[in-house]
Amino acid sequence: MANPSPPGIAILGAGIFVKTQYIPRLAEISDLVNLKAIWSRSEESAKGAVEVARKHFPGVECKWGDEGLNEIIQDTSILGVAVVIAGQTQVEMSLKMLKAGKHVLQEKPAAASIGEIETAMTSYKNISTDSPCRPIWAVAENYRFEPAFVELKKLVEEIGDMMNVQLIIEGSMNSSNPYFSSSWRRNLDGGFILDMGVHYIAGLRMLVGCEVTSVSATTSHVDKTLPAPDNITSNFQLENGCSGVFVMVVSSRSPKACRLKGTVQLERGVQDGRHGYMATVYGEGGTSRTIFYPFSGVTEELKAFFRDISGTSKEQEPRLSYVEGARDVVVLEAMLESGARNGAVIPVKKF
Ligand SMILES: *[C@@H]1O[C@H](CO)[C@@H](O)[C@H](O)[C@H]1NC(C)=O
Ligand SMILES: *[C@@H]1O[C@H](CO)[C@@H](O)[C@H](O)[C@H]1NC(C)=O
Ligand SMILES: *[C@@H]1O[C@H](CO)[C@@H](O)[C@H](O)[C@H]1NC(C)=O
Repeated sequence: MANPSPPGIAILGAGIFVKTQYIPRLAEISDLVNLKAIWSRSEESAKGAVEVARKHFPGVECKWGDEGLNEIIQDTSILGVAVVIAGQTQVEMSLKMLKAGKHVLQEKPAAASIGEIETAMTSYKNISTDSPCRPIWAVAENYRFEPAFVELKKLVEEIGDMMNVQLIIEGSMNSSNPYFSSSWRRNLDGGFILDMGVHYIAGLRMLVGCEVTSVSATTSHVDKTLPAPDNITSNFQLENGCSGVFVMVVSSRSPKACRLKGTVQLERGVQDGRHGYMATVYGEGGTSRTIFYPFSGVTEELKAFFRDISGTSKEQEPRLSYVEGARDVVVLEAMLESGARNGAVIPVKKF
């Protein structure tokens, strides 16, 4: 059977994440996709990203401003777009593209607030009822595709009754980090806690296999070079009756990135120069075994999106659905609200 030609896509956005993640990861799977254009509001930044991409995709075009965006919309060879812009404007851009009939892979967070999620979901429903072929709205949350989480999820199911979960994140968001001065992240309500935190909530929800029902949190602002809050400690209640604690420090002097504790433990690590997760499973009588899983979540999520838009998969990948991304945001929003209200117990909105 002849190989169908790979789907044409465009990247909207030309920031750090596009240059350091999207382009290199797309280059690894260049047989699955045809990167046709990179767009940014300004010509200068679009050109910067196109320069990086040209080595791998010689035909990539540089587009900018309203005119460039319209050209992408008009180009019927572009089936889908990756929306990788400021968190505050992503939903608006995604909806504009969906209305134009393009499939969308939007970067997380799914939205900047619960209010935005609600309008977004109604608007999306409206679009799909109007058009004959429903464009896909996917949220790129690479944690749902990380092999460590996929494998550990199976182990957690085998172990039996869950008693308690602890998720501790000690980040390293100081001035050496390339995202430290990102203005949109600083201006987002919830700051880095929301922007970084959605990954960890995604990982948590995936591993426990159920939803968070309510939270009670304390937040504080310790490092004044960071937007508030930068420390959060939250209790959470899970649908399965189990409870747990979520601790996140945006900038720690001894960063550990992510630790999930219990009978199974997941920790960031490096092996043979590759970054990934160390998963340790504790058995009876003090035995334990550790397995290393290098990162590949971004590549896997991109592959899944391309399968979905080229119509080669039977059903749409559920881990990419917009509602999954929205569920991560509402858990963090509830934690931030609880923190602002002295630890009041806040139910998590259901979608
Ligand atoms: C969805 O469609 C209904 C009926 O056409 C309309 O009243 C509503 O304003 C639309 N909502 C959004 C968010 O577009
Ligand atoms: C930021 O954190 C990293 C990781 O802990 C550390 O190596 C680096 O020195 C820190 N930079 C500053 C400016 O504190
Ligand atoms: C915030 O986190 C830092 C790093 O773990 C810790 O030193 C500090 O005590 C925390 N502050 C509050 C108020 O919890």
